[in-house]
Amino acid sequence: MLDLKRQYAPLHRELLEALDRVLEKQQFILGEPVAAFERAAAAQLGVAHAIGCSSGTDALWLALAGAGIGAGDAVVTTPFSFFASVSSILRAGATAVLADIDPVTFNLDPAAVETVLQGPQGQGVKAILPVHLYGQCTDWTAFTRLEKTFGLKLIEDAAQAWGAEWQGVKAGGLSDVAAFSFYPTKNLSAAGDAGMVTTNSDEVAERARMLRQHGMRRRYYHDEIGWNARMDGFQGAILSVKLKYIDGWNHARRTVAKRYHALFHAAGLAEAGPYPMHGVVLPHEVPGSHHVWHQYVIRTNRRNQLREFLAARKIGSEIYYPVPLHMQDALKSLGYIEGSFPEAERAAREVLALPIFPELREDEQQTVVAAITDFLS
Ligand SMILES: Cc1ncc(COP(=O)(O)O)c(C=O)c1O
Repeated sequence: MLDLKRQYAPLHRELLEALDRVLEKQQFILGEPVAAFERAAAAQLGVAHAIGCSSGTDALWLALAGAGIGAGDAVVTTPFSFFASVSSILRAGATAVLADIDPVTFNLDPAAVETVLQGPQGQGVKAILPVHLYGQCTDWTAFTRLEKTFGLKLIEDAAQAWGAEWQGVKAGGLSDVAAFSFYPTKNLSAAGDAGMVTTNSDEVAERARMLRQHGMRRRYYHDEIGWNARMDGFQGAILSVKLKYIDGWNHARRTVAKRYHALFHAAGLAEAGPYPMHGVVLPHEVPGSHHVWHQYVIRTNRRNQLREFLAARKIGSEIYYPVPLHMQDALKSLGYIEGSFPEAERAAREVLALPIFPELREDEQQTVVAAITDFLS
């Protein structure tokens, strides 16, 4: 599914030197290794502030709290994402309201959100939190319209989308505040847990920095209840090295995605969609969006059998995500039931992520597509 060793091999020496510098200076938490990464990350994304923190989950939490979302507020998001997209809203003390997804991109559907905003659940909604799923930006033009019409804040869950763009603007700089994850499988990855908040607002940045250190502006003087969400110096150092290569890696991911497209078309398996018939529906790059292909996700019937078939041939695949968030036991209190979000539920039954990473070779992709062809024919 993902061979991280292929990324590590050429960077081995550079990464060890970066780690050694941290050891020499003994700067293990925040400090210059993290500050240097924050400066370089902000410059690369074209945002005023980048705040390194302990994980993508904490970044979401800091983004929400930094933007002033808390008790009494509601935030609209998607039921088809990683758990943290919703749990962070609840941990910020707010209420999570869900709306269904677009079956083509799997991203939050602006029309479904508008319907929610116009209904009784729209009361108390202060923000929308779209997720740039699989490395493709959500339709930001539509969400900007909703932001203006309903006077809301927009918060990006950009955990899977370092380098993705919407109409030339990079994810992380599209909204009031955004959250990234550097979990080791992400397209920009740390050697452990790490995350980042980005914003163009001085005020939100200042609050996020304060909250990441137990609500301290001055050492041991606590203005608010924050939490420990600091980034380690080792992670900052590693991420500073990898930041120099991420554009090239994202470019390579786009090449891999194009090759999958071509191979599936050549095999006669590609179907128009959005729902599968006998073959596979390929992922779609929306015009105006620059996809970074964090995942290459096909849709197919008999998905579970296909996954087992691939596993028997030692081909990795993954389901992101098998259970929509409104059907998770931990989120029953949201009050939704099976059938509440038919698109998310159907996607959960049909999606399959295939191996994709910058170093994936063409012959390996041919093996994947040949196996899928064998299964479907
Ligand atoms: C969409 C999304 N949001 C949030 C997160 C949480 O990030 P982390 O695992 O770094 O806490 C992830 C990553 O797992 C994610 O994919």
